[in-house]
Amino acid sequence: MLTKKNPTELPAWQALQEHVNKIRRLHLRDLFATDALRFDKYSIHWKDFLLDYSKNHVLEETRALLLHLANESGLNEGIRQMFAGAPINETENRAVLHTALRNRSGKAVFVDGKNVMPEVDQVLKQMATFSEKIRSGEWKGFTNKPITDIVNIGIGGSDLGSVMVTEALKPWWHERMNIHFVSNVDGAHLTETLKNLRPETTLFIIASKTFTTQETMANAHSARNWFLKGGGHEADIAKHFVAVSTNKKGVEDFGIDPSNMFVFWDWVGGRYSLSSAIGLPIACIIGFENFEALLEGFYEMDKHFQETIFEYNLPVMMGLIGILYRNFHHASSWAILPYDQYLHRFPAYLQQADMESNGKSVDRNGQAVHYATGPIIWGEPGTNGQHAFYQLIHQGTELIPCDFIAPAITQAPLGNHHDLLLSNFFAQPRALMMGKTREEVEKEMTEQGYTPEQISKLAPFRTFSGNRPSNTLLIKELTPKNLGSLIALYEHKIFVQGFIWNIFSFDQWGVELGKQLAGKILPELQSTSATNAFDPSTNGLINAFKELRKK
Ligand code: F6P
Repeated sequence: MLTKKNPTELPAWQALQEHVNKIRRLHLRDLFATDALRFDKYSIHWKDFLLDYSKNHVLEETRALLLHLANESGLNEGIRQMFAGAPINETENRAVLHTALRNRSGKAVFVDGKNVMPEVDQVLKQMATFSEKIRSGEWKGFTNKPITDIVNIGIGGSDLGSVMVTEALKPWWHERMNIHFVSNVDGAHLTETLKNLRPETTLFIIASKTFTTQETMANAHSARNWFLKGGGHEADIAKHFVAVSTNKKGVEDFGIDPSNMFVFWDWVGGRYSLSSAIGLPIACIIGFENFEALLEGFYEMDKHFQETIFEYNLPVMMGLIGILYRNFHHASSWAILPYDQYLHRFPAYLQQADMESNGKSVDRNGQAVHYATGPIIWGEPGTNGQHAFYQLIHQGTELIPCDFIAPAITQAPLGNHHDLLLSNFFAQPRALMMGKTREEVEKEMTEQGYTPEQISKLAPFRTFSGNRPSNTLLIKELTPKNLGSLIALYEHKIFVQGFIWNIFSFDQWGVELGKQLAGKILPELQSTSATNAFDPSTNGLINAFKELRKK
């Protein structure tokens, strides 16, 4: 059982509050002006990663207090318990062991007294064999042709991770094959995806931990109809449909041969499942060796997280800096800004990972929390974001801390594009931090030949307050291995924050209510008479919809 301490009652929390109030007026510019060693003091080098967190409101005392907070909360013991398979997901009475999925140590991992590693290894072998057959063309469709298109049908954790990773590792794709993802229950998603595909060369992976999720089941059934209408027969389904799930019965009831099922376990949370068989589409498109390299990267970060003292521990420091801004500077959102087109789905992936984990307002004692928990996570790749929402980050009234992420070596070298990209990557955090003072604006405008009247009129709009914080994460190269480490870094950062906030990060009761209500509304949409089963607004909307539909 995890400790259940209210963080605001810890001495370090109170000391941090006082300390932050004391240094609140210090501008980041001043921190750099008075300490030439800031970069060295506030950065962490680890393998191919460099985290620079010097552009934050962190002094040595701030860092020391944040580290005290981690220690006083019992974080060390929390980490130990998670890796040891304790049932820390208490509201579902489950262990949280995504780390066992990529455990390369050869050591046993126990859940309820049973070593789970033999089963993990067994499924990995099954994935290796299957993905190799698909890639080599040995696995044939019903007209004896190799598979050219894989369609993953899943949603949330059974979709976002695989989408993000396959996009990130596009340069590693098999040249004969293409991969598609259908998640939305909106028929447009499946219809548009299948438009140019042929049943005889298409493989569907139905990915669902529960195998009951409405969206996934509806899409899977419609895909099967499409397949049967397109020339396939019931007997051919085994060659074209495989499943990834924890629910054997559900898979069998759907008509998928259990020998074409890849299992995982209830101790793997949906949003933490991409290193399980949920990663099957990844293994098929980039090859099992590369999938293993991804797992290796996860494992290395897992070890770093477990073994490194907190001051040099990437997930711990990133988690603590997040808490600094969320709780002591009242930042309500956090921007994830990858300067790498291949990482374009990384912010969307992190939205689920972070917001479904830490979007909670009841603590581990069942009490309402009176402090802020998970922030809103959002973002887009640079440089697109610069031409969309950066204006608000630079000059708006909100404080929005940012994570800037970029590889030093690109997978898509093209003329001087990467230098252009990275010049922006280095410029933006500096601009946010430094800003531009009134004096600087006036000097610049004078040099540009503006009149004093023009300067006095325009200068306020051209002034930047600066003092806006960010982390910069520079990665040598976005290889499968480094991507694994990057994902694990954020997984563990989320754990650190949820742990200190004293909330349960591994359940998601908040998504249930809407699902239940949709189930009650569906029959109303299928009847022709007007409804009065709900509140006046919902009734009014449903009845208007029925009228509109008639016309
Ligand atoms: O959105 C809620 C949720 O339960 C997620 O946690 C999960 O990733 C997703 O639905 C999909 O669930 P399943 O894999 O069971 O279809």
